[in-house]
Amino acid sequence: MSVPVLDIGGLSVTYGLREGVVRAVQDVSLRLVPGERLGLVGESGSGKTTTALAVMGMLREPGFVESGSIRLDGTELVGMDPKAMARLRLRQVSYVPQGAMNALNPVLRVRTSIAHAIRAHEGVDNAEKARRVANLLDEVGLAPEVATRYPHKLSGGMKQRVCIALAIALSLRLIIADEPTSALDVVTQRQVMPTLEAMQTRVGAAMILIGHDMGLMAQSVDRVAVMRRGRLVEDGAVRQVFAAPSEPYTAELIHSVPIVGGATVRAAVQAPSAAPRATTGDTLLLVPHGASKSYGGGLLRKPQPPALHPLDFILPATPARIVAVVGQSGSGKTTLGSLVRGFTPPCCLAASPTNARASRAAAHPADGIRSCASDV
Ligand SMILES: Nc1ncnc2c1ncn2[C@@H]1O[C@H](COP(=O)(O)OP(=O)(O)O)[C@@H](O)[C@H]1O
Ligand SMILES: [Mg+2]
Repeated sequence: MSVPVLDIGGLSVTYGLREGVVRAVQDVSLRLVPGERLGLVGESGSGKTTTALAVMGMLREPGFVESGSIRLDGTELVGMDPKAMARLRLRQVSYVPQGAMNALNPVLRVRTSIAHAIRAHEGVDNAEKARRVANLLDEVGLAPEVATRYPHKLSGGMKQRVCIALAIALSLRLIIADEPTSALDVVTQRQVMPTLEAMQTRVGAAMILIGHDMGLMAQSVDRVAVMRRGRLVEDGAVRQVFAAPSEPYTAELIHSVPIVGGATVRAAVQAPSAAPRATTGDTLLLVPHGASKSYGGGLLRKPQPPALHPLDFILPATPARIVAVVGQSGSGKTTLGSLVRGFTPPCCLAASPTNARASRAAAHPADGIRSCASDV
C-alpha cells in the first residue's frame, strides 16, 4: 500500500463553550493515499467541517484538538508552530471552504484574487502571473475576459470555477473541498464537479470531498467515510458502501437520494395529493398575461437576451397548493418571483381586461405575498 498523504489517527476536537463542551469530532482515524478521492459525508453538524479545519490548522477558539495526530506526508501537524504550519499549508494543502463562492472578495477583480494566490510563489513576475491567470481560467473552463470581472458579475457556477482555479493555483498534495457544489443547481453541479475532478487528477493531489449528497458521491469518489455525531461510523470503497452499508445510518443516507425516474421520485409522483382539482375561474393570476422581462437595454446599453419569455403564471386559489418552480441557474426563476412580488415591472404586456385588473393589483404588489430570498 502506498504511503499515505494524510494520516489522521484518533482525532478528537472539542469546542469549549460556556454552556458546556461540544465534542464535535471523536476518535476519528482516516488515511488518504496520493491521488485518492475520499467522500466525507454525514448530516449537518456531524463534524465534517471541524475535521477539515483541524487538518488545515484553522480551528479557532473555542475549538481545539483534544487528542490524536494528523500527519501530512509524515509530518505531524498537531502542536506544530503556527507559522511553520501556515507555510506548509500554503504549499501542500488547499481548502475550498463551505460557501467559498460567496466569500470571493467582492472588491477584487478575478485576476487580482488569483494573482494573490500565485504570489505565494516567489520570483513570479507580472507577465508570468498574467499568463498563469489566463491558463488557470482556461483550465477551469472560463473565458480569458472573466479575469477582469468582479465576482457579482459572475453566475454561481462561474464563481465556483474561480474558487477551483484559486485552489489549484499552487501545486498541492491535498485538496479539501467543503460542500463545493451544495449552493449550485443540479445542472451546474454536474458541470462544476468534472472540472474539480479533472484539476485534482492533473495536479495529482488527493482529495477530500465533503458533502451529504450521496448521489454526487457515488459519481465522484473512490471511498466514502460517513460521520455521525462526531464519530466515523463507516469507511469503505464507494461500491462496497453502496452495495452493503454496514450502518443503518448510511443506508438511510443512501435511500434519501432521489433518483429521477427511480423508485423514490416515481412513488411521490404516482401518489398525487388527495385534494380535489381546482375549478376554472377559481385562480390567482400572479403575473400579468403574456408578461416578459429583459434586463439592460435602454438608450445607451445593449439589450440583453430576454430573462423571461412571455408567460402566464396562474395558480389555483383553492385548494392551497405548493408549486415548485424548477430550472437551471439563470433560467429566470428569481425574475419570475420578482415579477410576482411586483419588485420588477414586466417589459411587455398583452392588452386584456385581466391585465387591467392585474395592473391595479400591482399597485399593492406585496399584499398577501411573502418571499424568502435565495442565499440568505
Ligand atoms: N465555532 C464553533 N463553536 C462552537 N461549536 C461549533 C463551532 N463550529 C461547529 N460547532 C459544533 O460542532 C459540531 C460539528 O459541526 P461541523 O463540524 O460544522 O459539522 P458539519 O460540517 O458536519 O455540518 C456541531 O455540533 C456544531 O454545532
Ligand atoms: Mg460543514
